[in-house]
Amino acid sequence: MDLWKTLEKQEEDYFKEAAVTGRLDDHLYMYHMPYSYTAEQIRKLRTFIFHMPDREVPRVIMITSALPAEGKTIIASNLAISIAKGEDQYVLLVECDLRKPSMFNLFKYPPSKGVVDILEGNANVSDCLIKTPIDKLTILPAAKEAPVNPSELLESKSMKSLIKEVSERYSDRFIIIDTPPIQATVDPKILASQVDAIVMVSRYRYTKEADFKMAMESLPKEKVIGTVLNALDELPAKKYKYNKYGYHKYYGREG
Ligand SMILES: Nc1ncnc2c1ncn2[C@@H]1O[C@H](COP(=O)(O)OP(=O)(O)O)[C@@H](O)[C@H]1O
Ligand SMILES: [Mg+2]
Repeated sequence: MDLWKTLEKQEEDYFKEAAVTGRLDDHLYMYHMPYSYTAEQIRKLRTFIFHMPDREVPRVIMITSALPAEGKTIIASNLAISIAKGEDQYVLLVECDLRKPSMFNLFKYPPSKGVVDILEGNANVSDCLIKTPIDKLTILPAAKEAPVNPSELLESKSMKSLIKEVSERYSDRFIIIDTPPIQATVDPKILASQVDAIVMVSRYRYTKEADFKMAMESLPKEKVIGTVLNALDELPAKKYKYNKYGYHKYYGREG
């Protein structure tokens, strides 16, 4: 067998083992380009989370934003990879945007049962976990298909208890929760009440100040530990800038 074939075979076996169906998406900068500027910004966010003055390291962290397409899923996923790359840190990435499951696009697993099936009583948490090619990173997907009643499910008591159950059962892991946009959520406080910390995402030249403020007002302020200003620069190398809750200060190009 020539070398090329051997490598292809190895890659196939590897995909099979990790339950992925192809190359992970390029937006997973922490995986594909750990030394890029963007990955560096994600690492800064991680470092910040681990070294907040006067605060315990939060273990259950929710990533949210006012509007769709601001980068919640991309940031939650990259942050999860970055934490899982730490020495002893295990991470469970939970996809709670039930209306628009998209994590399978990034991590390339087939559409899989998850949060919706658990809430509907048709699956257990452990049946739904997806192993990723990143050591120590497991995903709990949203659903195979978007449910007919995503808001009711998301805002139900059982959602609240699911997050509680997951964080108690996997008490040795960081739990990163990717959420739907706040504007599409009737009561973001239900999810927020179950987490230790909230990271807000906003997108450069996209998020309006009024939307951001409205979203902030619907969250418990003491839990919001910071804001990520995503896609700060259109240059591919400079997609993220992280700033400790200083949304306005970085509203411009840097450097
Ligand atoms: N930093 C970024 N660099 C490049 N593309 C981005 C970035 N952030 C978001 N995008 C693009 O925007 C789309 C929406 O991002 P996503 O994380 O799915 O947003 P949300 O979860 O907030 O709806 C992605 O598919 C991606 O193409
Ligand atoms: Mg999303």
